[in-house]
Amino acid sequence: MASQEVKQFMRWQRWNASNAKAYDAYKWLSRSQGWSSYIQGMLSGLPSGATVLEMGAGTGYITAILAEHGHEVLGFDLSEDMLARARATLERQGLASRVRLWQGDAENVDLPDSSVDAVVSRWVLWTLPDPRAALSEAVRVLRPGGVAAFIDGTVLKQSKLARWRGQWTDYLLTGRKPGWRDACYANFDAQLPRINAEQIAEHLQSCGLTVLRVDKDVDRATDGPFRRWLRGDGWTSHAVTAVKRA
Ligand SMILES: C[S@@+](CC[C@H](N)C(=O)[O-])C[C@H]1O[C@@H](n2cnc3c(N)ncnc32)[C@H](O)[C@@H]1O
Repeated sequence: MASQEVKQFMRWQRWNASNAKAYDAYKWLSRSQGWSSYIQGMLSGLPSGATVLEMGAGTGYITAILAEHGHEVLGFDLSEDMLARARATLERQGLASRVRLWQGDAENVDLPDSSVDAVVSRWVLWTLPDPRAALSEAVRVLRPGGVAAFIDGTVLKQSKLARWRGQWTDYLLTGRKPGWRDACYANFDAQLPRINAEQIAEHLQSCGLTVLRVDKDVDRATDGPFRRWLRGDGWTSHAVTAVKRA
């Protein structure tokens, strides 16, 4: 699998303007209080005003939460279309002055060593041709004593009924017709290496971090069972929190 080819696909097709709009619509199915508390828990101990880097900020859902918590947020994403929606959301919420966003690659972060107090990333590792490279980059830019907070997900086998429910929810929320996801799978989604919670923890540890927590059931604390049911329950999230040894 050629890494540049995957990135071109992710940047220009997988997360293009219409998919960015559809992705953004899912915020209506997210429990913002749940996500806010969860992120606060992962970053507990970090003072307000800390510099937090978000890798793969997408449409800005977690970015806004970080800014609301009083952090100075730096964020990048491969897709300008996703970032355009993030910028609009942050403007609307009056949070833009606390956030700097740019187009960038998680596997090659354009920041100096030890320059941020925390790195946060949700649902980005699975999209990468080399997720371990992104984890190593996170460790490089993190200052000693800083916190790494990675949330990622696993695709689950769905029953036919759940798949049908998920497709209807997607159609009603976004207008996408059933089958759109198959096109992504026919391209690169199915070939991506993906790493599970233990592998994330193992890699962070090998780069000099101490793992504080591995959580294999993030959904319970964030979106709740009804929302998962509506979405067809085809995805479950896990998270790893770690601190860089001084
Ligand atoms: C499932 S979305 C998650 C967005 C956001 N983190 C959130 O939690 O809502 C995946 C995001 O990863 C971004 N992405 C994919 N490959 C990337 C890369 N190499 N570097 C940075 N971002 C990337 C995509 O453009 C997309 O915005």
